[in-house]
Amino acid sequence: SGPESSSRPVKIGIIGGTGLDDADIMEQRVEKVVYTPYGKPSDALVAGKIKGVDCILLARHGRNHSINPSNVNYQANIWALKQEGCTHILVTTACGSLQEHFQPGDIVILDQFIDRTNGRATTFYDGSPNAPPGVCHIPMHTPFCPHTREILIETAKDLGIRHHPTGTNITIEGPRFSTKAESKLWKSWGADIINMTTVPEVVLAKESGLCYAALALVTDYDSWRYDDAAQHVSVDIVLATFRENAQRAKTLLLHAIPIIAKREWSQILQDNMKTVEYSFQDQAR
Ligand code: ADE
Repeated sequence: SGPESSSRPVKIGIIGGTGLDDADIMEQRVEKVVYTPYGKPSDALVAGKIKGVDCILLARHGRNHSINPSNVNYQANIWALKQEGCTHILVTTACGSLQEHFQPGDIVILDQFIDRTNGRATTFYDGSPNAPPGVCHIPMHTPFCPHTREILIETAKDLGIRHHPTGTNITIEGPRFSTKAESKLWKSWGADIINMTTVPEVVLAKESGLCYAALALVTDYDSWRYDDAAQHVSVDIVLATFRENAQRAKTLLLHAIPIIAKREWSQILQDNMKTVEYSFQDQAR
């Protein structure tokens, strides 16, 4: 049998972060309110098509940006997208820069993270009443899907979009920004950029066997760089810079999605699920 008969159709979940959570990038939109064992996702899912490819958009902070990073129900968001048959999750996230050469406006295709969140639910196997049984120790050596990242990087190159093919992101609990001392500490740890949402989103996606990749849009230089208080990161600076640059992230997504859809993912998705299965202490399940 040819590849058509064995291949699994691609469906792409898109989690839009601050400034990139409106659904007009999709055609034939249909809203769907869903519920999961972990409660409600951040908003209704919006199903539709981008260049003929099935996609589902979810606004991470809710469509009127009413949910702060600590209160986002990451478990419900990822579960809902998996439940709807997504094979991939592409996300956007605003981030601060911890390195001179990561400039506001740049797009970073994340490849590593450092977790400085506190008390967030980072596993589906949390012993809660509706959770699936077992204890899952998911490997995190390669948190982001390298195959999906490669397509995003190639597409960014082809389009001439200023980007960084790798980047280590530190996720802080927030909602406050970092002090200058903290910012210098993150820098000394080798982090390139900083945000408040990548963890646990990427972790839960990996536990679900999904191909997850993140486009981080640099909006500011965090707190390490300036002495002048007016130049420090603030919500105004983040939002204004994001608005100025969001179109490039959108363009990148619109071009990458049909390329992703043309690839064969069955083996990769199977391998992802094997990794999940082998992550349980009781492998007899
Ligand atoms: N999101 C955008 N800029 C940020 C920063 N400097 N720190 C944490 N999260 C951010």
